[in-house]
Amino acid sequence: MNGDARKTAERLTYLSGFGNEHSSEAVTGALPDGRNSPQRAPLGLYAEQLSGTAFTEPRAHNRRSWLYRIRPSAAHPAFTRADNGTIRTAPFTETVPDPNRLRWNPLPPPPEGTDFLGGLWTLGGNGDATQRTGMAVHLYHANSSMDRVFSDADGELLIVPEHGGLLLHTEFGQLHVEPAHIALIPRGVRFRVELLDASARGYVCENYGAPFRLPDLGPIGANGLANARDFRAPVAAYEDVEGPVEGVNKFCGNLWTATYDHSPLDVVAWHGNHVPYAYDLRRFNVIGTISYDHPDPSIFTVLTSPSDTPGLAGVDFVVFAPRWLVGENTFRPPYFHRNVMSEYMGLVEGAYDAKTAGPGGFVPGGGSLHNMMSAHGPDQETFDRASAAELRPQKIDDGLAFMFETRWPVTTTAQAARAEHLQRDYDDVWSGLQRHFRPAG
Ligand SMILES: [Fe+2]
Repeated sequence: MNGDARKTAERLTYLSGFGNEHSSEAVTGALPDGRNSPQRAPLGLYAEQLSGTAFTEPRAHNRRSWLYRIRPSAAHPAFTRADNGTIRTAPFTETVPDPNRLRWNPLPPPPEGTDFLGGLWTLGGNGDATQRTGMAVHLYHANSSMDRVFSDADGELLIVPEHGGLLLHTEFGQLHVEPAHIALIPRGVRFRVELLDASARGYVCENYGAPFRLPDLGPIGANGLANARDFRAPVAAYEDVEGPVEGVNKFCGNLWTATYDHSPLDVVAWHGNHVPYAYDLRRFNVIGTISYDHPDPSIFTVLTSPSDTPGLAGVDFVVFAPRWLVGENTFRPPYFHRNVMSEYMGLVEGAYDAKTAGPGGFVPGGGSLHNMMSAHGPDQETFDRASAAELRPQKIDDGLAFMFETRWPVTTTAQAARAEHLQRDYDDVWSGLQRHFRPAG
């Protein structure tokens, strides 16, 4: 659809490495040397710090960047309230938390002219954005590029495209993501989304808590899971636009709008570690059993947002990437379980090995919610097949599923609880499970 944007996207170069002290300048000499805030910043730019963590958080977790821009961010008129559309924010109080297992079909197509922001539809979440705890699950379905610029003061945005490529124009430069990639936009970073195809659909985890980081690896060692060097950060690129540009700011659950007299994507150079990233999920180094039993799916964690209790994530982002199954005398699909954590699961492509694919099932663009202590696991057809399978080494390479797993139950929005695309017969996938108990052996 958008040939020029696609060419731009495919020619982009990147910086490499999650959490690095990156630096980049779009114009030679724009980045000051030896200090962050010289008396006069180079090239007549303004210096500005963007903090992603409190000034005093431990160095290992501290996030901030210095931006060198045509105008400081402070140069804007007052924000006024805008319609929140289908975006909702924690605390979620429209419905009571539901112990039932829930599953949705993909979002229906939006009206013509719907951009990424207008196409954001909140499914539910937990915590409280004003307390910087918890998370929200959103889906998006868009058919138009943004000509406005968005920033989210409430949290960072983990974007999981399922259909259609995106060119993200951020304050730090441009990122290109396609289905099977993710993009991570830190709290407060301004961006707009240009579509590379006729429409775009996917998922967003809005993380109100501590910024996502790579999980500790413990006995796995120094390498494995998502490797830091595979995360791509943009190189500086700026828009020198004088003229009205709408800026939309999500703040404590509401959208606010202001008309800037210039593009706020005017950062000519920057350095720091509070930066956006893109990552190709196919680069995930999957680690699993080479003896028996299905490991707990925490082994598939790409990124984690720790809470104030060690080991207990506000939200984990987990991917079920292509992998080999070789466990001996093992039920190989994910086991039946009841989890103290709450799981929202989505599907980027193909099928998931614990669920039958196809219409009315777990399909790309759809999603399931298995709240705290809800009993779930393989459906009856999968259980029967896996119990009888001859256990040769088997490659799982026909699907890419993921999970937002959170320590708090997810309360759905009213629109999700009443959605036409909610599968009202989801419980039936477990209704055919027969008793096989034979006391005599
Ligand atoms: Fe589960």
